[in-house]
Amino acid sequence: MDARLEGSREQVTGIDDLPVRDELRGKSPYGAPQLDVPVRLNTNENPYPLPEPLVERITERVRAAARDLNRYPDRDAVELRTQLAKYLTGASGYEVGLANVWAANGSNEVIQQLLQTFGGPGRTAIGFEPSYSMHALIARGTGTGWISGPRNEDFTIDVEVAAQAIASQKPDVVFITTPNNPTGNAVPPGTVLALYEAAQAAKPSMVVVDEAYIEFSHGDSLLPLLEGRPNLVVSRTMSKAFGAAGLRLGYLAAHPAVVDAVQLVRLPYHLSAVTQATALAALEHTDTLLKYVEQLKAERDRLVSELRAIGFEVVESDANFVQFGLFDGPGGSHAAWQKILDRGVLVRDNGIPGWLRVSAGTPEENDAFLDAVRDLQCLVGDTPTPPKEQST
Ligand SMILES: Cc1ncc(COP(=O)(O)O)c(C=O)c1O
Repeated sequence: MDARLEGSREQVTGIDDLPVRDELRGKSPYGAPQLDVPVRLNTNENPYPLPEPLVERITERVRAAARDLNRYPDRDAVELRTQLAKYLTGASGYEVGLANVWAANGSNEVIQQLLQTFGGPGRTAIGFEPSYSMHALIARGTGTGWISGPRNEDFTIDVEVAAQAIASQKPDVVFITTPNNPTGNAVPPGTVLALYEAAQAAKPSMVVVDEAYIEFSHGDSLLPLLEGRPNLVVSRTMSKAFGAAGLRLGYLAAHPAVVDAVQLVRLPYHLSAVTQATALAALEHTDTLLKYVEQLKAERDRLVSELRAIGFEVVESDANFVQFGLFDGPGGSHAAWQKILDRGVLVRDNGIPGWLRVSAGTPEENDAFLDAVRDLQCLVGDTPTPPKEQST
């Protein structure tokens, strides 16, 4: 090895010794713990493995796709987007077509493409926090300034305060997560409409409604709000309701001009032929997969009522997870998180003082979780733990 290279290598001891962008210095990557414990209820995954007939169908479709892997995949994912549009139309009653739908590797990539298109250096995005932490992280990664918008203490959004924040800060992109992660509560359609109007009056800016958990909601999708609102985007994922987090397939519905605009930043052939084939197989089994959603909704409602019966405060949930607290005592919510983990159950500490989040699992997993929290010596109280960087 060249002695000069050897020397320079020794001087680099970490990221901050590299010429990384200033806004990345001292930051941590997204990192929900992936621990090997019996019950994992920390990343809002669907606990049910894909049913065997679907596994067979994926195998068939992927085998067919494999024969053509010498060729690049369909760059526009036409068949997949057509099927996603059919699913959305059937589920919401609001008609969307191929031209309204775009797909990428997880809704995180959809969000990244939206920020590359409508955010970027010299521009800003706002989200109402606590909310999905990747909105802020992807903003940072795309050089978009991040504005932490306000939420009430009960985690609802005060329309007037939020609209005022939009009016004064004039962000280029507004994120509204409904149902919200990590709190679980849905945002009323009237609030979304009011914030859309505020965003148009202020700039106009793009409003991204993140509906990653909408299939678990007691209420309806906000897709019909797309009518006559070209600056509105609804983003979705197959990671939760379709039980396909490992597939990495997210999508959006919007005015066709938005779909055209994201083509400016997407990498050519970003969605592999294997991904497209797998997603198409999963969509063929939509009805079966959505039956699991019904079971999970019932289990989510059971978690809410049993946690309340134990004495916890619980945020009303329209998602496949529940935020519960309040923990005080030494170490607060983090100490409670550790005690639950010691019982073999992994839940999520999002760094929201006093609160933890649990994903709805199978009935057996939920029983194990409920047994663990019943035994907790941590008390229901209101002394918050010190805040730390949030990671939802
Ligand atoms: C609100 C929200 N949006 C988007 C995502 C990203 O989902 P994916 O990239 O798996 O589609 C998540 C994942 O947890 C989420 O909670």
